[in-house]
Amino acid sequence: MTGVESLASWKALEAHYAATSSTHIRDLFAADPKRFDKHSLKFEDLLLDYSKNCVTEETMDLLYKLAEETDVIGLAKRMFSGEKINETEGRAVLHVALRNQSNTPIYVDGKDVMPEVNEVLAKIKTFTENVRGGVWKGHTGKTINTIVNIGIGGSDLGPVMVCEALKPYSKRDLKMLFCSNVDGTHIAEILKQCDAEQTLFLIASKTFTTQETMTNAGTAKKWLVDYYKGDESAVAKHFAALSTNSAAVSDFGIDTNNMFGFWDWVGGRYSLWSAIGTPIALSLGFDAWMEMHAGAHAMDQHFLNADAKDNLPMTLALVGIWYNNFHKAESLAILPYDQYMHRFAAYFQQGDMESNGKYISRDGEKVNVQTGPIIWGEPGTNGQHAFYQLIHQGTKLIPCDFLAPIETQNNVAKDLGAPVDHHPILLSNYFAQTEAMAMGKSADQVRAELKGKMSDEAVEALVPHKVFEGNRPSTSFLFQKLTPRMLGILIAMYEMKIFTQAAVWNINAFDQWGVELGKALAKQILPELDGAGEVGSHDSSTNGLINYYKANKK
Ligand code: F6P
Repeated sequence: MTGVESLASWKALEAHYAATSSTHIRDLFAADPKRFDKHSLKFEDLLLDYSKNCVTEETMDLLYKLAEETDVIGLAKRMFSGEKINETEGRAVLHVALRNQSNTPIYVDGKDVMPEVNEVLAKIKTFTENVRGGVWKGHTGKTINTIVNIGIGGSDLGPVMVCEALKPYSKRDLKMLFCSNVDGTHIAEILKQCDAEQTLFLIASKTFTTQETMTNAGTAKKWLVDYYKGDESAVAKHFAALSTNSAAVSDFGIDTNNMFGFWDWVGGRYSLWSAIGTPIALSLGFDAWMEMHAGAHAMDQHFLNADAKDNLPMTLALVGIWYNNFHKAESLAILPYDQYMHRFAAYFQQGDMESNGKYISRDGEKVNVQTGPIIWGEPGTNGQHAFYQLIHQGTKLIPCDFLAPIETQNNVAKDLGAPVDHHPILLSNYFAQTEAMAMGKSADQVRAELKGKMSDEAVEALVPHKVFEGNRPSTSFLFQKLTPRMLGILIAMYEMKIFTQAAVWNINAFDQWGVELGKALAKQILPELDGAGEVGSHDSSTNGLINYYKANKK
């Protein structure tokens, strides 16, 4: 079976790379005063500038041809129309239906999914308004002041990321806590912050079988029931479930009236738009969560309908492929210049790496090209004082996404009387870093700066260390303000970017078989940790580690 590397557009890109790879971004700007205009796009309040990348109009034309030849939009149409494009799990992929605010029918197995989607949303609206408004009471009649979401992966990362990113819109007197790690430390520290009479636990798990979540949920339930001296009836007022598995929810002891359902066609890492987003609606209010949906829906429509060259997710995906497959870059750094977005890169670590970390194609063959990049990142300016040295002067090529809001949510000069306005300082760093990365600093500039400050010999010794080669690519995103709608737009933009890359590489972005082996082995090892005697059924390293643990545990 032949792969993407045999396509004419791929071969043309290889030849183009060979002919242009030594071109410096500095020269591209020098050659074209209109470069910014030609290589920037707008969507609502979002400006995307990809001009500081090693691309020309010719590169982009070839990349757009690749998207055409791999029929990215054809696959997208199949996804949006409810076809089962997640073949290995036999499922449709319809997180887009959850935010389908135009409410047009979408059929799976001949049935329109929209009435059920709307029904669950209506149920979440009533529930969240009751909790926020104090109508929902705990077992002893007190209102709820703390939400503990127990979930992991997609049942945790999305809600945490959004609740942090949109904190300025949150109900500040409703404490939001998120427990994910099976390390008992996580739940122990969270329970220390809870008053049993005013805490509502949300058990968030698509499958309701995930070991970490079910273990934490069991501990939380015991803690609550113990508080009520064994009175299990308290569970009904302090536990709700976000899941597709009503039988397991019921077995766990949660009344299915307190369950908010979704469907197998919602992938875990795309589930914040489903009932998994209930903590978001609790914290920000249902309407704000719907504004996110509306932003994401607008981006979905843009992705489906805009011409490739005006299409934000398409363009981002193709620029990413240019680095990943032709420049052989290994990673992508996501660098938000907004403290509220401090979990954004972590969220897209799952979003991208669990989606596109695959070496088998849709046809079941080993792919011959590199697939998903390693995603990492921290908010600016913290990253600048940690890892930017390697980006500027290291030996690796690291394309970066820089994101920033024009308007801050905290004008500390006005609100706190701070002696200076922080936001221009933050943004000056945002602007400076991409310029430094792209343009660099020449030996002559360094010499001119050092001249007269030390001997000529000392200057020459220092010059190579202070030179910045530049030619480090970046893409800048500048948006008006991080509103719920804008966050919805940004998330959907990255989701569709991930979709596009998977379509080009011909891999299935919607399964995750690679997480199974470790889970199965952990289940096998767990009883061995308690049994008498040494274990000998594994490789010598695993045996050695387990036996060392057994010999030393207290
Ligand atoms: O282990 C990976 C995974 O299956 C993710 O895809 C998912 O988001 C996470 O586990 C949690 O799964 P669940 O919501 O079923 O508990």
